[in-house]
Amino acid sequence: MAKRTSQWYKDLAVYQIWPRSFCDGNGDGIGDLEGVLSKLDYIKSLGVDAIWFSPLYPSPNADYGYDIADYTDISKDYGSLELFKKVLDEAHKRGLKIIMDLVINHTSDQHKWFQESKKGPDNPYHDYYFWRKGRKGGKKPPNNWLSTFQGGAWEYVPEIDEYYLHVFAKGQPDLNMDNPKVREEVKKIIRFWLDLGVDGFREDVITFISKKEGLPNGFPLPTATGIEHYSNGPHLREYLEEFRAVQMEYDCFTVGEAPMMTPKKALKFIKEDENPVLDMMFHFQHMNADNIMTNFVRTPFRPGYLKKVYNNWQTGLYGKAWNALYLENHDQPRVISRYGSEKYRVESGKMLATMYICQSGTPFIYQGQEIGMTNIHLDSIDRFPDVSSVNTYALMKSLHLPEKFIMNIINYGARDNGRTPVQWSAEKNGGFTTADKPWFEVNPNYPEINVEAAEADPNSILHYYRKLLKFRKENEIVRYGDFRMMKTERKLFAYIRRYEGQKLLVVCSFAEEELNFRLPQSEFDLSKAELVLSNYDFNQVVHNGFFTRPYETRVYLIK
Ligand code: GLC
Ligand code: CA
Repeated sequence: MAKRTSQWYKDLAVYQIWPRSFCDGNGDGIGDLEGVLSKLDYIKSLGVDAIWFSPLYPSPNADYGYDIADYTDISKDYGSLELFKKVLDEAHKRGLKIIMDLVINHTSDQHKWFQESKKGPDNPYHDYYFWRKGRKGGKKPPNNWLSTFQGGAWEYVPEIDEYYLHVFAKGQPDLNMDNPKVREEVKKIIRFWLDLGVDGFREDVITFISKKEGLPNGFPLPTATGIEHYSNGPHLREYLEEFRAVQMEYDCFTVGEAPMMTPKKALKFIKEDENPVLDMMFHFQHMNADNIMTNFVRTPFRPGYLKKVYNNWQTGLYGKAWNALYLENHDQPRVISRYGSEKYRVESGKMLATMYICQSGTPFIYQGQEIGMTNIHLDSIDRFPDVSSVNTYALMKSLHLPEKFIMNIINYGARDNGRTPVQWSAEKNGGFTTADKPWFEVNPNYPEINVEAAEADPNSILHYYRKLLKFRKENEIVRYGDFRMMKTERKLFAYIRRYEGQKLLVVCSFAEEELNFRLPQSEFDLSKAELVLSNYDFNQVVHNGFFTRPYETRVYLIK
């Protein structure tokens, strides 16, 4: 297999666009590529080097683009393939790379492969998916698996008296990757986009693509029963090796989405000197510091857990593999509303940015995160567009839980929180669209929180992100230094990076209350170090430490 010639992906910072809510260029209420074009200079100004596009392909939107009806075209909602090429060109001109979302665990039920496949067992596409007869004379689905989004994982098609498998929504039938023809199709898709000039892929739930032979019953869970039989399945590495061979002909970049991943397991896929099949993985462990397994099973925020997870990944991968760093994406509620504080929005927004971007790895920044957007609060389930919010609501209703309790959980955990339109200005609809009504509600805090206001305020989160990304780019220690977590109070997170004789100290408070930070003299003398980043003015040092203000962060560099 072709080997990497360079590891350029390590120096990147990536901006994620969820196109539907980024910027509407033609006034129909839906974000699009015209809108993206108009914001390329803004994106470049952040100091990022790449854009990852959540799916832009034609889709009936059962799962807003993650149900793809045609892999080699662009949705009319977003523009056209021509327009995409223009965006690609204009991005490249500005030194921005483009990363596409590769969603191959499933297609849309409107994809022509599926339309053919459901004509019956003789159709050449039938084996592209998992079709099975029911149990008990056909009355019961083939096994007990449950989908993540929508009840059972099997949908019955009476015309052919068979069920098809969908581990996500009904409109997302799982592809049968064991079929070599399907893998050839995937390689064609990969080539199509690379030939067009894109620079890499974010691979959607890539660790789910190999299902255990015989599709045995799973351990009963409230949702996603059967997951142990398709997460990190038997042929996963083998299939990824096939795809990697194509990808490496182009020296492209890959990041795989990997639910339930641990550092130890990840090394089997991304260890640099052992034939890696991906450059890095998006794990989820650090997004579980305020929930159990899913955002809909809430706990109070647990900083101790968060620190432990970071420590495991930073030390577990150091020198062997590369971390993907993120706090937000289109599947996550806004992080200030979770790990930070809406009351101390600006302070905690800057602290959180520092906390993850100063670690070793490639940082991803999600649209709106750079201006500190927060969760939206909606009073009725009818106002939530996402299939997973709607179905979680229905599930909780069926358990006769009180409405108020349910709506609290939905408001806190819904992916919709991350999908409200980007707030560009204090104009109507936050400047997102000129239409009367955008496709989804703009957060009513837009008059205060928007890009224009942030540009005008030298103390904004936006300007802080720019400073932080510039600092990362100019200092190899941030990218390549090792990582050691310090022993501190529970709500303090402090770590030291070391690189070629330099040391970087990062201190982050997850608390409103005052905490006591002390650096042992044996590390270095704080008064001799340079304070390179902070979120407050007047940063005194007493006894080689300081008492923290709410959500304070400081970064010291000693050369
Ligand atoms: C990934 C995507 C998510 C989608 C799911 C199914 O987790 O990020 O948005 O719903 O896969 O494609
Ligand atoms: Ca539009």
